[in-house]
Amino acid sequence: MNIKSPHPRARLRAVCKGYGEGINRQEILHDIDLELHEGTLTLLEGPSGSGKSTILNILGLLDRADSGDIELDGRIIVDLPEKKLARLRNEEIGFIFQTADLIPRMTALENIRLPLDIQGTGRRRADQRVMEILEKLNMGELAKQPPEKLSGGQRQRVATARALVTQPKLLVADEPTSSLDSENAVQTVSAIQDLCHMMGTAVILATHDNRLRQHADVILSLRDGNLAAPATSNASRKY
Ligand SMILES: Nc1ncnc2c1ncn2[C@@H]1O[C@H](COP(=O)(O)OP(=O)(O)OP(=O)(O)O)[C@@H](O)[C@H]1O
Ligand SMILES: [Mg+2]
Repeated sequence: MNIKSPHPRARLRAVCKGYGEGINRQEILHDIDLELHEGTLTLLEGPSGSGKSTILNILGLLDRADSGDIELDGRIIVDLPEKKLARLRNEEIGFIFQTADLIPRMTALENIRLPLDIQGTGRRRADQRVMEILEKLNMGELAKQPPEKLSGGQRQRVATARALVTQPKLLVADEPTSSLDSENAVQTVSAIQDLCHMMGTAVILATHDNRLRQHADVILSLRDGNLAAPATSNASRKY
């Protein structure tokens, strides 16, 4: 059961980020303001090199902004030592990347359970939590399979389950479907949306794939360092 928070799950305020010095300086993000809300899937579009991964890495506390504020659940994250950042990443943020990176000699269930094992959750409770998520993904019968017996789409859904099993406040998904065919891409994002609505997780998902728009609650487009709702978008800001 999630207790509704009065704050956005994550927020960027006036975030700037660039690379290089002097005349080689390249500004990537200009004064980015962004709010991610509980149980909402936000799709982040933009051309290659526009800074989508840079935004996701800042939100996931994997990279630091040059200026501006990052908030998680109303707490401003500023100048925290790496150990504290690692704890926040582990306890409050889930990640999905382009490839599932599952551990080969472990079953789907064991792969998904790993973050709970690291947190010290008891085996019975952990297995129950994993099976609940697998059932939601219609993958219950695959729990005992190792990754090499799963399709690409099934593997990416196992990675989704692994990212969400700890019930993170925020899920950061960087092109999670770029290696999947169209049908599997849509199925995977639909599963992510269902789970985020159910668990109250705020999701930000970067993609180049227009077909995923139907599964977004909010669509944002990144261009020339600025964020906007795209003109062609039919998803309104419902939250
Ligand atoms: N560590 C770095 N040092 C210098 N420049 C960088 C670094 N990381 C990213 N960049 C530059 O920042 C810009 C934005 O990169 P980013 O990876 O965020 O784009 P993206 O929108 O995710 O692109 P793609 O769709 O190809 O994944 C690019 O011009 C990239 O070359
Ligand atoms: Mg990227």
